[in-house]
Order: sequence, then structure tokens, then C-alpha cells
Amino acid sequence: MRVTLFGTGYVGLVTGACLAEVGNQVCCVDIDAAKIARLNRGEIPIHEPGLEDMVRANRAAGRLNFTTDGRVGVAHGEILMIAVGTPPDEDGSADLSHVLAVARTIGRHLTDPALVVNKSTVPVGTTALVRETIAAELAARDVTIDFDVVSNPEFLKEGDAVKDCMRPDRIVIGADSAGAVELLKRLYAPFNRNHERIVTMDPRSAELTKYAANAMLATKISFMNEMANIAERVGADIEMVRRGIGSDPRIGHHFIYPGVGYGGSCFPKDVQALGRTAREHGYEPRILDAVEAVNRRQKDKLFELIAHHFGGRLSGRTIAVWGLAFKPNTDDMREAPSRALLQRLWEAGAKVRVYDPEAMDEARRIFGARADLALCDSAQAAVDGADALAVVTEWKAFWSPDFVALRERLREPVIFDGRNIYDPAQVEAAGLAYYGIGRGRSLRSG
Ligand code: UDX
Repeated sequence: MRVTLFGTGYVGLVTGACLAEVGNQVCCVDIDAAKIARLNRGEIPIHEPGLEDMVRANRAAGRLNFTTDGRVGVAHGEILMIAVGTPPDEDGSADLSHVLAVARTIGRHLTDPALVVNKSTVPVGTTALVRETIAAELAARDVTIDFDVVSNPEFLKEGDAVKDCMRPDRIVIGADSAGAVELLKRLYAPFNRNHERIVTMDPRSAELTKYAANAMLATKISFMNEMANIAERVGADIEMVRRGIGSDPRIGHHFIYPGVGYGGSCFPKDVQALGRTAREHGYEPRILDAVEAVNRRQKDKLFELIAHHFGGRLSGRTIAVWGLAFKPNTDDMREAPSRALLQRLWEAGAKVRVYDPEAMDEARRIFGARADLALCDSAQAAVDGADALAVVTEWKAFWSPDFVALRERLREPVIFDGRNIYDPAQVEAAGLAYYGIGRGRSLRSG
């Protein structure tokens, strides 16, 4: 099939590459000329396992093309997918200007019947708004062309996006017409083998499904972070509690890891946007508000442990920070807990020495050059000359350090483990003080 993707961010680029991989003719459109130029040179703007090879192979095979020209994109696709960003605007609601700009582009250039598929995360009712926007452009041109709009939210995890796209847990299609469902079923057939993954529903339910999924996952994390804060005070270890509750299949082992709060481009903005939608409809979303509030506070947790250990005197101290990305296997630092930690440390007069396996360029772009920031090229280098070590992102490379060597390198041998990846007894046996998240004993060890 001929498919056009509007937007070459995570969702658009991954979806476009995967659809080309299974034999479709794919055109990717983006208004960012620099980005399209890079893609046309074979450079991938994001770090996503498997993506670069897939983009290269499919470009070489002529199945994947990039352009800034909306008209070319509209002319190319029998299926037109919207995969542009919906960043939060000042009041927390999703900014639809990019989505509606694509809808206008489609309406302006459409010449043949097409199915418009919205993959961007959008408030309930946006499918209808996209439909109206396209219809208004067609009316302005005084033409009648058959088109349909469906909601087809994505559930890609950064770092696993290619896998999630090729082998999804579910494919949600929110459509008003059987014809649209049939067309998308054909498009997704290669990703829907062995058992049925397609769930069809009306567009409004599909739009809410996306928010409900992310809000539920964010709720699990904030709930566990709250339990961790209670565990810390009552002298319990949240890691034991996590195993104890996760073994109940109704709760499950996934997504109940306490830590330094959730970050990334989805959870923070989607929880806020859903809360905003609820309010607009006269409902006060108490759980969503609490999820958000707990997360904000949790992002300060590591700083508070560090401040506690040093008796509030951080001026002149140097803290090594391992991990900047909001989670492993990505270079994405949007809403990353590391940013809150660095900010608080700087405000307190401390210096930081940071290392991340993938996010160093991103850190350079975000922070620029500053005297209180050393961008180091290895985990070891970050620790050299530092007083203490804080682990913020649980990259595999950080899981088994040589604790004895760490004790020798750190001026004040102490580890602040923001992801509970170490065994406190092992760390302490090597002669370092240990603080984790929600591990009652850690406040005593300082
Ligand atoms: C998320 C959803 O998982 C995905 O389905 C949706 O489409 C987009 O948003 P992503 O933002 O890529 O994906 O990251 P995810 O792996 O879900 O992690 C989000 C954050 O939660 C990270 O900061 C992670 O460190 C944190 N997290 C996750 C925890 O703190 N504890 C956990 O148990 C799990």
C-alpha cells in the first residue's frame, strides 16, 4: 500500500520504517528541512535500537522516502497518517496546532479518496475536529472528495519502539466505518500474526484508551514511589515489598519499580492533559492530580538524600551522576529526573560530573558549557575527583561496578542509588555508604 507519514519524530519515523520494511511504499513528510536533509543523507536524528539499519535498507530499496513537501506527501498516500507532536501548552492541555496544520495540508492538496489515520496522542474529540478541518479546506476549494478519519493511537516505548511496532500488544482502531477498519486491518496484517491484536471501537474511546493506558502506568509508578516513601520511614525495604506484591497476578511484576519519578515525552504530558480534559468536562480528577504531585516530589528525592547525607552543606561539593536519559536505551532527556537533580545540585552550589552512554550530545545541547558541569566520556571519568556518586538511569553498564575501586576514587565513599539497582549489603561490604529509594535502612547508613 502507499502510506504517508506526517511527522518524523519517534512515532512517525519508526512507524514509517516498519511499514516500509513489510513492503509498503512509504513517504515521510516533515516541515523541519534540516531533519529531512539529514534523513536523506541516511542520518537518524534519534537513538532507537534497530531503526538506523531499517531506515537505510528501506531507503536503498526505494520503499522509504523523505520530503518537506506536503503536497507530494498527500498525493502519495492512500493512507495518510498524522504522527506529529502534541506538546503541552501553558495550561497543560495538548497543543493541537501541529495536528490541525497537517489536517489543513491534507484538505488543501487532496485529489483522491484517502483514509486519514491519527496516531498523535490527542484529546477526545480530535478525530472529529480533524474531519471538520479537512472538510472546511475541501469546501473552500469547492471540491467533493471522499475521505475518512480514524483514531489509531500508538503504544511505542522508546528504546523498544521498533519491536513494539512490529509485534504490538494491541492495535487500537477507532473508526466510524467498516471500510476504514478493513483497510487498516490489511495494512497491519503483517504485525497481527498468530493471534488477533486488533481492538476496534469508536474514535472517542480510542482517543481515551491512549490516555487511560499511560495514566494507569503512571499511577502504578507514583503509587510505588509513595509506598517507597512510607517504607523508608517505617524501616521497611520497598524492594522486598515489590516482590511480595508483584507475585499476585492481579498486580503483576511489571511497572512497579520505585525510583526517581517518571519522565519522558509521554507520561508527564499525558497525565496533565487528561486531567485538563476531565476538568473541562466538570470532573475533578483526584487520582491524576495525586499521580502528578507525587511524581514532582519524587524527582527531588535523590537530591534530598544527598542533602541529608551532607548535612545540607553541598556548596563546593562535586557529585558524579551516572545516567541522564529519562530511561535506558534512549538519548531522550525530556522531563528526565536527572534534570531536576542537576538543577537542585547547582542551586545548592555543588558541581556535577556526568556520564550517560547515549545522552551526552543531548546534555551538551541542553546545558551548554558551564563551570559547574563536567561532561565526562566514561563512568569512571565521572567519578574521578567526585565526592559522591548518584545513579539516576539504570543503564546495564552501571549494574555491576567495581565497588572497591569506586570507594578508592570517591572522596566521600557514598552511593545514592536512584533506581535500587544495587544490593545495599554488597555496597556497604566494600566500604561505601548506601542510600536507595524506599529502603528503610539507607537513612541510617548515612
Ligand atoms: C510510555 C508508555 O510506556 C508507552 O506505552 C506510550 O506509548 C508512551 O509512553 P516511554 O515514555 O517510552 O513509553 O517510557 P516507559 O518505558 O513507559 O517509561 C516511562 C518512565 O517511567 C521512565 O522515566 C521510567 O524510568 C519510569 N518507570 C517505569 C519507573 O519509574 N518505574 C517503573 O516501574 C517503570
